Amino acid sequence: PRVAVVFGGRSSEHGVSVVTAGSVLRALDRNAYEVLPIGITPDGRFALTTDEPERMAITDGKLPDVDQLAESADGQVNLPASPLAREVVYTEPGSVPKALGEVDVVLPLLHGPWGEDGTLQGLLELSGVPYVGSGVLSSAVGMDKEYTKRVLQAFGLPVGPYTVIRPREWESEAGREAAVARINEMQYPVFVKPTRAGSSIGITKVDDPADLHRAIEFAREHDPKVIVEEGVRGRELECGVLEFEDGPRASLPAEVLVGEGFDFYDFDAKYIDSSDVKIPADLTDDETARLRKLAAEVFEALSCEGLARVDVFLKEDGEFVVNEVNTMPGFTPISAFPKMWEATGLDYPQLVDHLLQAALR
Ligand code: DAL
Ligand code: MG
Repeated sequence: PRVAVVFGGRSSEHGVSVVTAGSVLRALDRNAYEVLPIGITPDGRFALTTDEPERMAITDGKLPDVDQLAESADGQVNLPASPLAREVVYTEPGSVPKALGEVDVVLPLLHGPWGEDGTLQGLLELSGVPYVGSGVLSSAVGMDKEYTKRVLQAFGLPVGPYTVIRPREWESEAGREAAVARINEMQYPVFVKPTRAGSSIGITKVDDPADLHRAIEFAREHDPKVIVEEGVRGRELECGVLEFEDGPRASLPAEVLVGEGFDFYDFDAKYIDSSDVKIPADLTDDETARLRKLAAEVFEALSCEGLARVDVFLKEDGEFVVNEVNTMPGFTPISAFPKMWEATGLDYPQLVDHLLQAALR
């Protein structure tokens, strides 16, 4: 089969997506699949790019970029190194990438808005091409931390205390006061987040109410809708879910061990200084079983397809609360998702093959 591996994109997680794609391209069996690497530049142009994983890694603490992959330093568009890419196709910003060729299946390795949020999935639905992962609705719900929680609550699944600040509310003085009053009913520290973003971008941990305004304005740079969550005292865990023909199955869980000197699992702690994940997490058999069951229930509640990573907290009282769902979890060398599956008995090439085969069925 011919696979379009799509990565990069317009979100703030552009570089993370390129690193994800590099890792997947390394694991993908080239004897079984013909690869068409399609990068989306930060301004939304689709380009055929290299498929050399080496050029898609973090170097000297700098994330890779689709523009670098497709263009040389003097701005000339290079012939991509991929033998599949016989001509350079660089679409106009936002145009539908018809010119990029026929494919059997699309592997949309995009994180964040305009990729993981149902928008690309809608384009693929319209084009009638099979693709890996969740459809329009689940992708959109999973991207939005408010609606993820609202749907999970409707299913009786546990989430922590939160409040949402919509753009119109924050734009009036009375609204701002009301929002701050709601936040101050919660226990500090609180986490102020753009509702639709990922990789901890735009997030601030706020210990002091005096710092709230700045944190909300910072989050608003990434999304005009902001969610404020009460900091959960407990352990941070992740669980991978894969769809099989008989339904979703959850992996062995991982525990996030935030690197020393980091207050929480922020962007640098994740990708630059590489905090550790412990796999399998050091949990009792009962805790592990409850977490795996919860992760599969979350997958079903959101009508996810293919794959998802469910991030949770184990509170000090022994109960779990769901923090968030990632419908296209990171596949970077430090990402937990492929490692959790490896520990569960599916190695990286088998994992990628499983995802593609499920989409082709
Ligand atoms: N949003 C990042 C890629 C993750 O959840 O792994
Ligand atoms: Mg997370």
